Amino acid sequence: MASAAPAATRAGLEVLHAGGNAVDAAVATALALAVVHPQAGNLGGGGFAVVRVHGEVSALDFREAAPAAASHDMYLGKNGDPVAEKSLVGPLAAGVPGSPAGLWELHRKHGKLDWANVVAPAVRLARDGFVVTPRLEKSVARAAKLLVRFPETAAVWLPGGEPPPAGSLMKIPSLAATLRDYGEHGPEAITAGPVAAAIETVSDRYGGVLTVADLESYRPVWRKPVFFDAFGWKVASMPLPSSGGIILGQTSGLLERTNWGRTPRFGAERTHLLVEAWRRAYADRFLLGDPSTTQAAESDLLGEGWLDRRARELRSRRATPSDKVRSWKPSAAGESTETTHLSVADGAGNVVSLTTTLNGSFGCGLLVPGVGILLNNEMDDFATAPGRPNLYGLIQGEANAVGPGKRMLSSMSPTIAWRGSETVALGSPGGSTIPTVTVQVLLNLVVDGDDLQTAVNRPRIHHQWMPDQIVVEPDALAPETAWELERRGHELKPRKQLGDVNAVRISSDGTVEAAADPRGPSSAGVVTPAPGT
Ligand code: GLY
Repeated sequence: MASAAPAATRAGLEVLHAGGNAVDAAVATALALAVVHPQAGNLGGGGFAVVRVHGEVSALDFREAAPAAASHDMYLGKNGDPVAEKSLVGPLAAGVPGSPAGLWELHRKHGKLDWANVVAPAVRLARDGFVVTPRLEKSVARAAKLLVRFPETAAVWLPGGEPPPAGSLMKIPSLAATLRDYGEHGPEAITAGPVAAAIETVSDRYGGVLTVADLESYRPVWRKPVFFDAFGWKVASMPLPSSGGIILGQTSGLLERTNWGRTPRFGAERTHLLVEAWRRAYADRFLLGDPSTTQAAESDLLGEGWLDRRARELRSRRATPSDKVRSWKPSAAGESTETTHLSVADGAGNVVSLTTTLNGSFGCGLLVPGVGILLNNEMDDFATAPGRPNLYGLIQGEANAVGPGKRMLSSMSPTIAWRGSETVALGSPGGSTIPTVTVQVLLNLVVDGDDLQTAVNRPRIHHQWMPDQIVVEPDALAPETAWELERRGHELKPRKQLGDVNAVRISSDGTVEAAADPRGPSSAGVVTPAPGT
């Protein structure tokens, strides 16, 4: 299994050692991340999981939902412009958390061990303490300006006014108590009673609209995954309200309609076609939103007719200006990138691919006092002013406008792919870069036959229609490839890092391997069966 933090990977391995299945391990890891990786791991946020248990593939949507009091224009200022502060900072930015009921539901349906045993490693980490990593110290330091605005948060995460130093032992007794109750009573320990009341009280104190009724009425939803074929492999990924599966499916469907797999691997034509496919998939993302309001269905965008039509547009050897693909003004910035992905496989062939987030690093910055849970700022993933570039997001359409009870459009792409008895599970954080990062690793595996670690390690690129530029990691493009792309009209923009993939693979002989991304201090581990088992 592989996750973003060694202590969380250890929690998952411990559960596998104790006879748990992949679902038990995934839930234990996600809960441990809520303690040791507070930038993204959470109980106050949400996420998505694609799982294969006893051969059946399904998808759980535990995405946050807009509170009942949310409204279309709630993030606009008096002049009608979006006010980013409102959708990013403090509890007005928080959607109704989906993780407490979602992780419980995942375990209820597919877990093997007792619930309390699955929660136990996270309780221990919060109660007995965990060693602060240099990465965590840096993350807290980067978020300090946000965290200091809420004394409730600073009391835990800025003790003495400073980030907890790397190497120190961090204990969070309030979170330990919440997790203990969650382990004893399930989600109602958080979504009802005194914890829910504490969430409503602190939300109200800082101008938020979350209520106990919102928390009590939240339900995770089992959805049919997006299924598609990719170069001889079957793939299952996340459906709406995530755009991830549709973008992966469109990318692969468009590339299969060209001779992409036969173009020279690191040459300009390959990159050009990949970018042209993404340009169209992200333009179509404009139409997507909560399943109840989306203006395009998965069946429209992954239908043969639409893919054939879009594929015909890829013939030119010139970059298509993005505003010719669909004419909207370019966005200046990207979605928040603080999310986290974990992948688990067990010896019985069960597989979990799970991505979870608070949206921004430490979410909206507010920690519920006495409870230890950080609240998300996922409301910023809505189109706060549809059709106009969001200060911190992609350009999005009316389908993703704010509305009570709606789930905001996501890019998270937990994915499982298989061919015969070979299986791979993978995903990444990275906001709008998640689908392009995930599909590149997938293509490395299924088209080029890379081993798992090599596929994860390879430098990556990204294009999301708007802004019209190819974002390029160091060494992702050979100089002559970069030159030819520029000659074709592409703009290149360097970036230090794209994504942080955690992946597992079951080979046809049943061997399980795990790969953590060298870009982050992620951690992968494999349980070695005892001799004779
Ligand atoms: N908040 C990032 C995403 O859902 O894509």
